[in-house]
Amino acid sequence: MPSSQGNDGWASKFILVMRQIRLEFQRERTDKSIKPMKIPYPISSVLSQKTDALWCVAPDTTVFNAIGLMATHNIGALPVQSADGRLVGIFTERDYTRKVALQGKSSKETRVGEILTANLMTVTPEDTVEDCMRLMTENRVRHLPVVAGTKLTGIVSIGDLVNWIISTQNAAIEQMEQYIAGGVAG
Ligand SMILES: NC(=O)c1ccc[n+]([C@@H]2O[C@H](COP(=O)([O-])OP(=O)(O)OC[C@H]3O[C@@H](n4cnc5c(N)ncnc54)[C@H](O)[C@@H]3O)[C@@H](O)[C@H]2O)c1
Repeated sequence: MPSSQGNDGWASKFILVMRQIRLEFQRERTDKSIKPMKIPYPISSVLSQKTDALWCVAPDTTVFNAIGLMATHNIGALPVQSADGRLVGIFTERDYTRKVALQGKSSKETRVGEILTANLMTVTPEDTVEDCMRLMTENRVRHLPVVAGTKLTGIVSIGDLVNWIISTQNAAIEQMEQYIAGGVAG
């Protein structure tokens, strides 16, 4: 029968290996020559950790009211829906700074429909976290509306994805460390 001293030595070695893996994850984030990790989880798993609230505006909403809504809910983007529920674009903080503030337009006189981003990128609940990260990086967008069929079901931000990836990696590493150290009954 192995001695408890032997088990401790084995566990310590594995904990060291797990720390090394954690360091590798950190190196992967900074070393551009390393290919990104595969993240095969669907975006629905990110949405399920958020509240169901989804803030949208109509094209005839004034920019002033839209940025007020963003400030109230501490968000940086609003999907724009027509009266029949069709997604016609997205209005973001970037649209405001570049197309209203910098152009010297009045936010009380400009309607969201005049300056929204109509060339819209959307994802489905089945698209993976990795797909969404790639879309955001390649197209330099920070928000992706999630559409199931024709229905707008949510929105994910770059912050959601970064938080989700960090918490998923940490949870997996901690669970393995606990398992190796004998903290998980099995
Ligand atoms: N330093 C970094 O690496 C880093 C990375 C990402 C974000 N940030 C910063 O963190 C802050 C938050 O950014 P963010 O990417 O989470 O964007 P955000 O502020 O727009 O989103 C905050 C939260 O609100 C949600 N949300 C956004 N629009 C919504 C809407 N219309 N209806 C319902 N929910 C909505 C998002 O899904 C997210 O959960 C920003 O200041 C950003 O610049 C920093």
